[in-house]
Amino acid sequence: MPNESPELKKFIGAYPAYLNTKSIDELRVKEYSRLDRGEHIYLDYTGGGIYAESQIKKHQQMLAENVFGNPHSSNPTSLAATKLVEGAREYILHFFNADPNEYVAIFTANASGALKLIGESYPFSNGRYLLTFDNHNSVNGIREFAHARGADVTYIPISLPDMQVDASQLERELAQPSKNGNNLFAYPAQSNFSSVKHPLEWIEKAHAHGWDVLLDAAAYVPTNKLDLSKIKPDFVPVSFYKMFGYPTGLGTLIARKSALAKLHRPWFAGGTITVASVQGDRHYLAEGATAFEDGTLDYLNIPAIKIGLKHIESIGYEVINQRVYTLTGWLLDNLTQMKHSTGIPLVRVFGPTTAEGRGGAVTVNFYDKNDKAFDHRFIEAEANKVNISLRTGCFCNPGAGEIALGISRVELDVCFTSPQHHDRMTIDDFRLCIDGKSSGAVRISVGMVTNFNDVQALLSFARGLLS
Ligand SMILES: Cc1ncc(COP(=O)(O)O)c(C=O)c1O
Repeated sequence: MPNESPELKKFIGAYPAYLNTKSIDELRVKEYSRLDRGEHIYLDYTGGGIYAESQIKKHQQMLAENVFGNPHSSNPTSLAATKLVEGAREYILHFFNADPNEYVAIFTANASGALKLIGESYPFSNGRYLLTFDNHNSVNGIREFAHARGADVTYIPISLPDMQVDASQLERELAQPSKNGNNLFAYPAQSNFSSVKHPLEWIEKAHAHGWDVLLDAAAYVPTNKLDLSKIKPDFVPVSFYKMFGYPTGLGTLIARKSALAKLHRPWFAGGTITVASVQGDRHYLAEGATAFEDGTLDYLNIPAIKIGLKHIESIGYEVINQRVYTLTGWLLDNLTQMKHSTGIPLVRVFGPTTAEGRGGAVTVNFYDKNDKAFDHRFIEAEANKVNISLRTGCFCNPGAGEIALGISRVELDVCFTSPQHHDRMTIDDFRLCIDGKSSGAVRISVGMVTNFNDVQALLSFARGLLS
């Protein structure tokens, strides 16, 4: 590279694989130039991906040149829409290497919509719901359905500093499925808090003891290949905007047909039945995915999923992976070396401090020279001033947050049982309850089209907090 800065030289020296990802720099100029035109330092890829201009153009052209009607009728415009919707469904399975004889792809509004479908339909009675502390709230929320149907709900803790799951406790619990009911085990392939990649080997361990496995892939698939010919989770929720930015409002539940057959939908709707009768007070659910897709599908946007998946394929997960690995490594190496004049480190990382076994989200809190944490809202406000988009708070992952921030069960019990919090509690009430502790963290997330300059801008911002 000509005009290499000394820092870039050092980076390449430490992470030579970055050079294999040059195609992303070219792509960024061609397809994502609005990032640099707007002087954006976008570091919230775990929040949402960024779309390429060509995705929008291809989709727009498709809409401009064709006439699409509500699918699943025999008229020509309906058939045109059906063809594209079913084409996108097939492509999702192809993309994840899922055998169509074994898996189905159900269209949902997002990963949360996919998770709710499982929660409301899973036959929990007399069963167990086992999940890791490290989970998004939309996975935690399934426990309400489990409780309502009398299932046992068990959480497996994670521990500091690496935010990994206690494997021995997990194995103990997996070895004790309910003998009288169904058993569902849920965990994220990649944490949206710490970015830890949890072992995919757990899927078969759980299967061996008779558990169904819900693998939350929402934070994993934007930068990692999920190959459903090699691993066989029963339920996989995904949000497409996290993978390729556009369209928002669409996700999928990829489900194994055998596990899907266990689910009982609590209602029926337009589109989900073969026959429903008013006077007969009966309905018959359709087979497979159709039974889970309420009402009219988002048939104008669904074709954009195929465009997005092809876009990822054209770049290749290997390149994306190397990009994220090298930049995350550099970000971590530098952040963890920064110290105040007093010798106090600037950051504390929640999760692995190297790029191994993790994804591109680096979650930290910043500390002043007296080792007092800066409020995460202050950090966000300061970052906003220099056009850095990052995210702060608990990222809808309270279990990981409570462990990272050292908020104990006792404190939470006191907080939740106090009379004034019986009916309602605001986030400010919660902050008061955990007096003196940080109530959130700062997540800097590197993604598919992040470049060296983005990371350098963040590091320069961090250096500005040193005293
Ligand atoms: C790991 C994980 N699971 C589930 C979700 C929920 O996704 P959505 O908000 O798109 O429904 C998210 C979103 O941040 C996530 O990171």
